[in-house]
Amino acid sequence: MKNPNLLKNLHGQRTRPIPIWIMRQAGRYLPEYQSVRGKTDFLSLCKTPELAAEVTIQPVDILGVDAAILFSDILIPLEPMGISLAFKEGEGPVLSPPVRASNDIKALRVHDSKETCQFVSETIKILRDELSEKAPLIGFSGAPFTLATYMIEGGSSRNFLFTKKMLFESPTLFNSLMKKISDVVIDYLNMQIEAGVEAVQLFDTWAGILSLKDYRDHVFPHVERIVEALSAHQRPIIYFAFNGGHLFDVIKHLKVNCMGVDWRTPLSIANELLGGNKVLQGNLDPLSLFMPEEKLKDRVKDIIEEGSHAQAHIFNLGHGVLPQTPPDKVKMLVDIVHELTG
Ligand code: CP3
Repeated sequence: MKNPNLLKNLHGQRTRPIPIWIMRQAGRYLPEYQSVRGKTDFLSLCKTPELAAEVTIQPVDILGVDAAILFSDILIPLEPMGISLAFKEGEGPVLSPPVRASNDIKALRVHDSKETCQFVSETIKILRDELSEKAPLIGFSGAPFTLATYMIEGGSSRNFLFTKKMLFESPTLFNSLMKKISDVVIDYLNMQIEAGVEAVQLFDTWAGILSLKDYRDHVFPHVERIVEALSAHQRPIIYFAFNGGHLFDVIKHLKVNCMGVDWRTPLSIANELLGGNKVLQGNLDPLSLFMPEEKLKDRVKDIIEEGSHAQAHIFNLGHGVLPQTPPDKVKMLVDIVHELTG
């Protein structure tokens, strides 16, 4: 039978051992990933279903994690909106043209992911067969604000000048962009769910750059609309607002199964602030994976204790694993979590 622990915990039922998966678990720290990636560029890897499926399964086989996460990127559904996307070595993503004026937003296409992102549904279909009994498959999307920052800035940013300029100077314009992106996100996640993912995660990596008030007024309503639109599927949803501890008083109202928490907020405090009735996912500092085994184990023990206050707990890092991380440490983490809670 398929490993049931992730889905049980997402539905609020604790298990022994507790499940663990790792954000960015398929990635450059794994030599097996690098050997596939060596044959092609990152975007082509995302768009070649056999290869994307192969690297999705790698961490399940190599590390023994309790879930697979679709190998793709949050920026993938932005290309068919009419934005050109490139990943430059050492520079991160570059999106052009940047979306800054009313005409730029009007030109964006709300596309049909079944047609424009067929490689994603094909990857999911391959995984449905090849993962079959091994582990459940998590699909994902960027949340609209995080996607908006990449579109408006044209890539990564330090101070999000153009994003905040648009939000503060033309909230109506900003809102029309958020609405278009949300329509794409809803369609994109519907497609993934129909193709067979068993849970979805919404990554809101940059939500934390906003004040509570700006988040509540200009971002949260769009996230809420996405969650409501997906609710008919009854597939578990995880919402992860990185650096978002100060937003919990608003986020707690979101009707999702699980909240991701970064390493800054202890899980017992996150649990209180989120209403005391949530499943939590997290929250080991990814840099802890550079500690010696005994110290790492102490940190893991702390997090398991903290997580015991929540309705259920899915172990994860507080953000993605770094490319420099020794793979044997990541495997060690998975084994420690399973042993301590088994
Ligand atoms: O987690 C997984 O294993 C699934 C795959 C996945 C990737 N990106 C693969 C990837 C997921 C879920 C993402 C999400 C993603 N992508 C986020 C949200 C999560 C987070 O980290 O906060 C964001 C902000 C992005 C945007 C993105 N993609 C950036 C900024 C970069 C460049 C930085 C870097 O690490 O090079 C990427 C590239 C990327 N996405 C890589 C991988 C494995 C590295 C590409 C390579 O092989 O060269």
